Amino acid sequence: MRFILLLFLTFTSIFALTSYEKGKQLYISSACYACHGHKLEGIHRYPYLANRAKGYMSYKLKHFRAKKADTQQQEMMIDFAIGLSDEDIDNLTTYFRDYVDEENGESYDDSYENYGDGGS
Ligand code: HEC
Repeated sequence: MRFILLLFLTFTSIFALTSYEKGKQLYISSACYACHGHKLEGIHRYPYLANRAKGYMSYKLKHFRAKKADTQQQEMMIDFAIGLSDEDIDNLTTYFRDYVDEENGESYDDSYENYGDGGS
């Protein structure tokens, strides 16, 4: 009986993944972390993705998937976005938006960010 319960738990944990978990798995299996960081914190010139607006992140990924890039630097993303389905993008952007650091339970606070032209 215990074995069956264990089997049941294993199956439910495989098939009942949340969108967040699926996004996380895809993020890892697609090696997105190589540029955007294990904690979605960004590396060098590669932007951070943690806790960013789902709508905007989806827009960007679909833009790249359609082989559109606004700058030369962004062209790098086309190869990584091209194989993503709408569902993949949905899962990934849920993961970005809801990201919580598993070690300390923290999210990023990007309220300091300013938008617009930076006042120049
Ligand atoms: C080889 C490095 C590299 C890898 C790997 C990579 N990216 Fe990127 N990513 C970039 C660069 C460069 C940009 C564009 C930065 C800019 O706008 O100047 C970018 C931009 C983005 C953006 C838009 C962010 C913004 O601020 O506009 C998203 C979303 C994103 N990447 C998601 C992903 C996902 C999901 C994966 C994995 C499937 C991935 N990236 C893999 C380099 C990478």
